[in-house]
Amino acid sequence: MSSKAPIHLVSVVGTRPNFVKMSALVSRLRETPRFRLTLLHTRQHYDESLSEIFFDQLELPVPDVRLEIPRGSHAGQTADTMREFDSALDGLPETAAVIVVGDVNSTLAAALVAVKRGLRVAHVEAGLRSFNWSMPEEINRVITDRISDFLFTPSEDADQNLLREGIPTERIHRIGNVMIDTLLSHREKARHCRSAEKLGLGKGAYAVVTLHRQENVDHPEILWGLARAPIETSRRLPVIFPIHPRTRKRLAEYKLWSALEDATGVQVIEPMGYLEFLDLVADSRLVLTDSGGLQEETTVLGVPCLTLRGETERPITVSHGSNQVVGVEEAKILAALDSALAEQPGEVAVPPLWDGQAADRVVKVLERVLT
Ligand code: UD1
Repeated sequence: MSSKAPIHLVSVVGTRPNFVKMSALVSRLRETPRFRLTLLHTRQHYDESLSEIFFDQLELPVPDVRLEIPRGSHAGQTADTMREFDSALDGLPETAAVIVVGDVNSTLAAALVAVKRGLRVAHVEAGLRSFNWSMPEEINRVITDRISDFLFTPSEDADQNLLREGIPTERIHRIGNVMIDTLLSHREKARHCRSAEKLGLGKGAYAVVTLHRQENVDHPEILWGLARAPIETSRRLPVIFPIHPRTRKRLAEYKLWSALEDATGVQVIEPMGYLEFLDLVADSRLVLTDSGGLQEETTVLGVPCLTLRGETERPITVSHGSNQVVGVEEAKILAALDSALAEQPGEVAVPPLWDGQAADRVVKVLERVLT
């Protein structure tokens, strides 16, 4: 390769949160003449509502490569993604680094393939830890970090986690939060969606609920309590519940679906596009969720967030933001809900470097080290 030839990088996305996190970075990398970027979609998420609409709204380019992975267990999905990604790399120009983001099965699969081929791995959103080994995402994060050459972290706690695990300091680059880059650059456009108005809701007068984590929705006894949360919340204010396909399936399987449908104050709707959902959350009174990304987004939007889990890998959203970790028991959720509703949402301090410039920082590091 001549020193002037563009450096080839591969960015891997597979699921809804990956698209949001990779959007700003893909656009910065495409603007940088030193790099030639291949965007690869593993299609871990294949539904239009979880995938294609995000490409349109986030102005992500059409992927250069799309894998076809059959549905399957976690291990099956990871193995199939590895096999397919390995073959896809055979057909691409010599690659200087593979960029992965977040903690989903696609992320781990692509990182493992890259490291076994002797390629450098850049992990964006490195260092987050829930310390809950029953979460598939925790396994994915820890292993991906261990085999990455560039660890791009969102916060100081993430740096500390990596240092404690013996990752050399020169591999760790604190760059801020790429998901917030996307939020800040789409906030104005999202306002035009008028999501609340279209759902017949007043600004600041409704709650948004999302649930999808395997450790929550795949256990009938936990999901039972969690399904009560939107129903009980709707006795206090209207609730919008855009539902993930996994959760829809489980609610039906565990015979909880009709209780939700019968609750007149709960609108259960299909998963929303990025812009519509951002606008809906920004105008809401509060959010109840088990999502990781939403804890960060509500922090920047200043919307109170009740996290329906036993812990968070994003403690900075609690220390700086509007997040509270309330667990999965109905009584505790409702107590937290009532105290959150009794208080007027105050100003929150946005964490350092969550300023819309995180993708630029990633590109600068890659330019410095790879050229
Ligand atoms: C995955 C990620 C999770 C992330 C979430 C965002 C892992 C381990 N989990 O969870 O970290 O927060 O995405 O949504 O990677 N399904 C569809 N249509 C799709 C995709 C999935 O119907 O487009 C169904 C699948 O058939 C499966 C279920 O939803 O039954 C779960 O899908 P999967 O991709 O395994 O995990 P998620 O729960 O979406």
